[in-house]
Amino acid sequence: MSGFSIDWLNLREDADQRARSHALREQALDWLGLTAPAGAARLSTAPRPGEVIVTDLGSGTGATLRALSAPGSQNLVWRLVDHDGALLDEALRRHRRDYRIEDHQNDLAIVAELPLGGARLVTASALFDLVSAALVDRLVQRLAGLRSGWPNGLYAALNYDGNTDWDPVHPDDMAVLAAFNRDQRRDKGLGHALGPDSGTYLAQVLEAAGYRVQTAPSPWQLDGQDAALVRQLIEGMVAAVCGAAEIDPAQLERWREFRLDSAATGRCRVGHLDVLGLPP
Ligand SMILES: C[S@@+](CC[C@H](N)C(=O)[O-])C[C@H]1O[C@@H](n2cnc3c(N)ncnc32)[C@H](O)[C@@H]1O
Repeated sequence: MSGFSIDWLNLREDADQRARSHALREQALDWLGLTAPAGAARLSTAPRPGEVIVTDLGSGTGATLRALSAPGSQNLVWRLVDHDGALLDEALRRHRRDYRIEDHQNDLAIVAELPLGGARLVTASALFDLVSAALVDRLVQRLAGLRSGWPNGLYAALNYDGNTDWDPVHPDDMAVLAAFNRDQRRDKGLGHALGPDSGTYLAQVLEAAGYRVQTAPSPWQLDGQDAALVRQLIEGMVAAVCGAAEIDPAQLERWREFRLDSAATGRCRVGHLDVLGLPP
């Protein structure tokens, strides 16, 4: 068990899919040979001659596989990597009939053992904010080292950027967010987490390693239709900051009640950054 339940991943998936940068997703598909140039018909349902491999890090139940679903994506080889066997089993249950899947129960911290060799694209979503700078360095170093043999790209979507805006506003929004963002940098098992800096840090490291890098915002835009997700987000923020010295428990409880009361009628924007790095 990783602490990421199937229910939580299900709850956020619709907002995640709406939030992803359309442009970067299209370019990732293009890199995999799954889109035709603008204006032309799709060429084929086969990606390319030979096996085209995608390694998805922290795959959960397979959200990236679903996000990159396109004609031909069923002919890719999907290596799903997660340390949580229950999430991998759920991904297999959902997709093994229609996709070519290898499941890899690995700890991402052991970069040398990740199944990256031969992958044309390494993907991740909602992952890099959990990861340390040192781990990003080691991962990109390994990818760049593999590049001479295998041209590989990295597509990392939905890296939290530290911004959460609420409508209606509450006077304690900024105090709660500041405490939440501090908690985001806590070690979650992959070192001192990058949290809100993850997208920009990943982009810098890829650029320094010679990749062509593009970034694009991919905010959650939540309203009353997402009330169940918004309520979970509020409870998650409260749980993350409840011991913080700078927030009085009664003040936090008032904020929680106000936020839950407006979950079905208000709006919330949670910032993320998508990152795509392709070989030069
Ligand atoms: C926020 S979830 C995102 C899951 C999926 N990519 C998605 O978008 O729905 C983070 C994922 O990273 C996995 N994870 C966290 N720490 C890990 C580690 N040390 N090794 C492998 N996987 C890890 C979790 O099990 C979880 O599936």
